[in-house]
Amino acid sequence: MMHHLQGKDLLKLADFTPEEIGYFVDTAIELKRKRAIGEVFEPLRGKTVALIFEKLSTRTRLSFQAGIAQLGGQTFYMSPDQMQLSRGEPIRDTARIIDRYCEGLFIRTFGQEVVEEFAQYMRHPVINALTNETHPCQGLCDLMTIKEKKGGYRGLKVAYFGDIWNVCHSLMMGSAMMGMDFYAGRPAGYDPNPEQLATAQKWAALSGAKIVFTESLEEAAGDADVIYGNTWHSMATENKEQRLKDFAPYQVNMKVVKMAKPDVIYMHCLPGYRGEDMVDEVIESPYCVFWDQGENRMHSEKAAAALLLV
Ligand code: CP
Ligand code: NVA
Repeated sequence: MMHHLQGKDLLKLADFTPEEIGYFVDTAIELKRKRAIGEVFEPLRGKTVALIFEKLSTRTRLSFQAGIAQLGGQTFYMSPDQMQLSRGEPIRDTARIIDRYCEGLFIRTFGQEVVEEFAQYMRHPVINALTNETHPCQGLCDLMTIKEKKGGYRGLKVAYFGDIWNVCHSLMMGSAMMGMDFYAGRPAGYDPNPEQLATAQKWAALSGAKIVFTESLEEAAGDADVIYGNTWHSMATENKEQRLKDFAPYQVNMKVVKMAKPDVIYMHCLPGYRGEDMVDEVIESPYCVFWDQGENRMHSEKAAAALLLV
């Protein structure tokens, strides 16, 4: 066990080393195996985690709550509009109180600075359940899924089509850290957060991975091992109508899939929108691994909780 991970926050992937990220993934694969054979593993017995979600969620919230229950712990969901936060109680006061009741906080919010402030004022770990900038739990699950389906990372090409936002940043970071080339096919003017890109480029220089943002569908999808879709209009982005127009040429349809390697896998964080970023022909094809990927959210969040909160 990497005991030095105990007590750490999971705010973004780049706070860890590639070895540590690999260890989260291997732990997730082991926890999936345990669940498949019905082996009880309850390191969180007697422990509690608070949940604050300031944006909607289906996968993240349920996978985490189910996962913590399977590890023997309990979660308490707090609706932000029923907390004193909504009447102006400062984050630093809220954080220090939650810290006295619970062994951790799982939070989905807007700015990355919010999760950072909670982490600053809590001794127990804070796990980021999505901000505008990053989605590290999705990133861990995506790496787990790629490892399961492709056997490893080095030398693979990931082609991303979707909003250049949280999921894109975490996938770019995970790819760069683990040695996969990351190509985003997107319309001109939709660029990554410069700070996220600079950090990913540092990791890419160490791992030998490429990071390419291109307007060319062919350059992005050509010979890809993984095609990754995402919505064109995330929660907390603006100008939906303009985005629908701008991203229309970047729909992941069979034409795009055929540009990739014959054994390409098609991933998506979900939710996606049929007729916009995705189409049934590909979703219902053997290329699609959405449901295995979605399941892996639970195993990878269990790994994070078991390693950080115990
Ligand atoms: N992929 C993801 O985070 O989904 P939810 O918004 O449903 O949690
Ligand atoms: N980029 C999307 C991801 C949802 C899981 C959003 O932030 O809405």
